[in-house]
Amino acid sequence: MIGIICAMDVELEKILAMMENEQGEMIGSVVFHKGTIGGTDVVCAVCGVGKVFAAMCTQSMILKYTPDSIINVGVAGALDKRLNIMDVVVADDLVQHDMDVTALGVPRGMILGTDYIAFQTDNRVSKKLYSALTALNEERKQKGEKELGTMHGRIASGDQFITKKEQKDDITGAFGAVACEMEGAAIAQVCHVNQVPFAVMRAISDTADDSSEVDFPEFARAAAECASEVIRRFLAEG
Ligand code: ADE
Repeated sequence: MIGIICAMDVELEKILAMMENEQGEMIGSVVFHKGTIGGTDVVCAVCGVGKVFAAMCTQSMILKYTPDSIINVGVAGALDKRLNIMDVVVADDLVQHDMDVTALGVPRGMILGTDYIAFQTDNRVSKKLYSALTALNEERKQKGEKELGTMHGRIASGDQFITKKEQKDDITGAFGAVACEMEGAAIAQVCHVNQVPFAVMRAISDTADDSSEVDFPEFARAAAECASEVIRRFLAEG
């Protein structure tokens, strides 16, 4: 079984619409939807925004459904200048840009208790997501539609919606991340300590700057739909 976690309803909507034999169950504040997509057993949920909700949802999903792997899907702000709105990023690893115990001589971003700054995604799942993305682009090309830009790299998560150049420069300078969001690294940490393989794929909804307040509400839905289309192909491959 594959677990899929999104932060917001708009990110799960299209994935949920693909689901067959759906059965819902509420645990805490989260509804877990169990069913099949393209013949693959799936459990998916909207966790809520931010690292705490993301961690709660991931731990509940692991304990209740024991998924073989967990994929976090949704939208992100671009940090890398080469990324445009609607491009898709598959994470190589994830950091928590707001984790800071430097006052005690610990490197910035280090998660005490794990000794990691970055949690590496599962290579097999990430590669499969990337080939599903390539297949989607091939299909778009054949239909005469614009291909989505693609990138893999580090994603930074934190409990802030990034809209300021100083924040953006700080995160890229400290961590070399290509995109920012608010849940992926928390899901990564929970999966890491439970030894569950995980991957994170995010479509760009905004450029994490002073245009984000306008761009995010305008493009989040369309960007989330791009990411959902990749998931459809990923699950169809079995
Ligand atoms: N998710 C989408 N855009 C974001 C941004 N600019 N900051 C944090 N999370 C985001």
